[in-house]
Amino acid sequence: MLAVAVLAAGKGTRMKSSLPKVLQPLAGATLVERVLASAANLQPERRLLIVGHQAEKVEEQLAPLGGLEFVLQQPQKGTGHAVQQLIPALENFEGELLVLNGDVPLLRPETIDALVTQHRISGADVTLLTARLADPTGYGRVFTDAKKMVSSIVEHRDCSDEQQQNNLTNAGIYCFNWSALVKVLPKLSTDNDQGELYLTDTVELLPSAMHLEVSDAGEVNGINNRRQLAQCEALLQQRLRHHWMDEGVSFIDPDSCTLSEGCIFGRDVVIEPQTHFRGTCRVGDNCRIGPGSLIENASLGSNVTVMHSVVREASVGNEVTIGPFAHIRPATEVGDGCRIGNFVEVKKSLLGSGSKVNHLSYIGDAHLGENVNVGAGTITANYDGVNKHLTSIGNNSKTGANSVLVAPVTIGDEVTIGAGSTITKNVPDGSLAIGRAKQMTKEGWTSRVS
Ligand code: UD1
Ligand code: CA
Repeated sequence: MLAVAVLAAGKGTRMKSSLPKVLQPLAGATLVERVLASAANLQPERRLLIVGHQAEKVEEQLAPLGGLEFVLQQPQKGTGHAVQQLIPALENFEGELLVLNGDVPLLRPETIDALVTQHRISGADVTLLTARLADPTGYGRVFTDAKKMVSSIVEHRDCSDEQQQNNLTNAGIYCFNWSALVKVLPKLSTDNDQGELYLTDTVELLPSAMHLEVSDAGEVNGINNRRQLAQCEALLQQRLRHHWMDEGVSFIDPDSCTLSEGCIFGRDVVIEPQTHFRGTCRVGDNCRIGPGSLIENASLGSNVTVMHSVVREASVGNEVTIGPFAHIRPATEVGDGCRIGNFVEVKKSLLGSGSKVNHLSYIGDAHLGENVNVGAGTITANYDGVNKHLTSIGNNSKTGANSVLVAPVTIGDEVTIGAGSTITKNVPDGSLAIGRAKQMTKEGWTSRVS
């Protein structure tokens, strides 16, 4: 049997944040969600989360994941004290307990698998992950004996100058034999610089402690402050970009672009500088996105071009051109072959295939048929101050420059709206509608006045 426990009760004082540290976001997911995901492969029988600081907030955020047992640690007196709180919950448990620090978010699932496998083969009481770090500042140092067994872990602040030279560090990820651990947990003392109960002291108390050194030290980065958060974000972003480069995506200036794990790209996609993808995005083959664009929870077909634009919670077909400087807002569906040009905002609207909104328009709560040509400066007046209303435009219709379509209004197929019109009444198929004051011209006016 395997139980996984994530330590997530600490305040994270060094973050200087009103958010508990384990809820800090990294590439769109919280630290603790990432830690849980790194152990999901193992399909543990039990998943426990030790919560304390802002426990309700952490529970509320994680409850939707399901199957988690929350264990309260109040007050928080150290990582050893946190694990002591598991004793009642795991009273009749037999097997391995995998303990994960809630602030070590970049672990690869394969690394955790390897740790558990080595632990099971060796039969040690505990096996922990270690890393050799170029700069081990802040991490606990791991000391081994002649047989390469772990003899002790000394926190950075408790190390002598000589001990600080040891760059073999504790990653905060441990696989314990629970029945051995439960015997030594009550023996922990607070005899250290912080006056806390350290989980790391169990390695001295257990008969056999082993370690597994990771090959990629970047995986075990712990997050205690915002600098480390930024470093982890950079590492994660690089991992994501490298993955997609290997799958056929080109980045013109990779470091200036960010992705999220929920993004899927086709082949020969080109991502131009300063372009960001958030949430769940699908991008088809041969798209060219950017420079300077944000795509969030959106799906784009193939051969789509987006330049200097924002597309959020929208679905875009194939062969579509967006921008520069367009804003596609939630609940918009853009059909194949559409063109949305500069300074155009589209909200909660359907654009049939081949329709064009090329310049300076607001299209909100509208249904456009196929091949509609929306003239420059056309506005749907969708809001009467209380409710939003629908504008419907049929196939092959055109609106003249500076038209205002006052919703609710239905414009049929093959309609032409004269430039500068304010349309308040429905227009049947095949008509020309003009709604503006007749022009009055007074000839000879200039010479008469002067
Ligand atoms: C810890 C390790 C250190 C290791 C480092 C790796 C100890 C004593 N030290 O140090 O050897 O190199 O992680 O990143 O374990 N937590 C609780 N309850 C508490 C205290 C902490 O749940 O009472 C949780 C925190 O929320 C956090 C994790 O335990 O997720 C680690 O705590 P933190 O204070 O960050 O430990 P470090 O000083 O980084
Ligand atoms: Ca830490």
